[in-house]
Amino acid sequence: MDDPWGDHTEEYDKAYSEMTTKYSSDVMEEVERFQVNKVLDIGCGTGAFALLSAAKYNTVATDISPGMIRKVTQKAKELNLPLEAFVCDAQTLDKLQDGSFDAAVSVFALFLVPDKSAALKSAFRVLRQGGILAMVSFNADTDVQNQIVEIATYIQFYMGKDPSKYPDQADIPKNPCMFENTLVELVIETGFFAAQVVKENHDLVFDNGQEAINFFISSPFCIGRIAELGKDKVTDLLVLKFADMGFKDNFWNTPVVLATHALLLLATK
Ligand SMILES: C[S@@+](CC[C@H](N)C(=O)[O-])C[C@H]1O[C@@H](n2cnc3c(N)ncnc32)[C@H](O)[C@@H]1O
Repeated sequence: MDDPWGDHTEEYDKAYSEMTTKYSSDVMEEVERFQVNKVLDIGCGTGAFALLSAAKYNTVATDISPGMIRKVTQKAKELNLPLEAFVCDAQTLDKLQDGSFDAAVSVFALFLVPDKSAALKSAFRVLRQGGILAMVSFNADTDVQNQIVEIATYIQFYMGKDPSKYPDQADIPKNPCMFENTLVELVIETGFFAAQVVKENHDLVFDNGQEAINFFISSPFCIGRIAELGKDKVTDLLVLKFADMGFKDNFWNTPVVLATHALLLLATK
């Protein structure tokens, strides 16, 4: 089975877990304000949130990627934490019963889900009355848009294409992140109420351009492309993208700061 995320769990963990753990701690602070016992992590990845949650609550971790589920299960074992983890599509959450959770959490997964409305409806279904939804999502409404997803989208766009023909920026597909209003509207349409959005940013700071390139080179977004195009071509594409975002002079020798601008959405059923 094609498992683009699950084939690179080590690289994902190395590249992203520090950043997603910071956001997961923000979510945990919010969740702790409520009377919560049973918690669901949707699109758990390598477990940035699920592992924090398993230390406090009865936690179920789900992801569409079998590799991610294997990795989070292994990490929970190593940490001696009780965690139930299995493959489950966010769009259906078909293995989960109606009204069975006090909190449904999802950290940086919604932007990858094609049918976002179906994902929210499923989260609504599995929550009990009065249960809370806490979701971290990249914010499309930032000055340079979301730089990370923009770079990732840019790289993915080249899959199977001739890398010598760099298309116009205008040809690149739209950033799949959501604007705050769209996200809140969708959540309210689903039936949730009292939606509140907290804006968070945790910068990714690299000592120099080479470190920034290494980060993306080792992320699941790019690894497939490296196998296909070679490391040099992917590096070229990344440097072009960084230049387009304004990182031009002295790129290789100066610190690179990438904002991750996220929306932390809280809503109740
Ligand atoms: C960027 S990672 C975030 C992982 C983790 N929540 C974190 O904060 O580190 C996105 C995750 O969403 C998962 N995913 C993508 N589409 C999904 C879907 N339809 N249902 C469930 N999980 C999905 C991927 O397999 C991946 O593990």
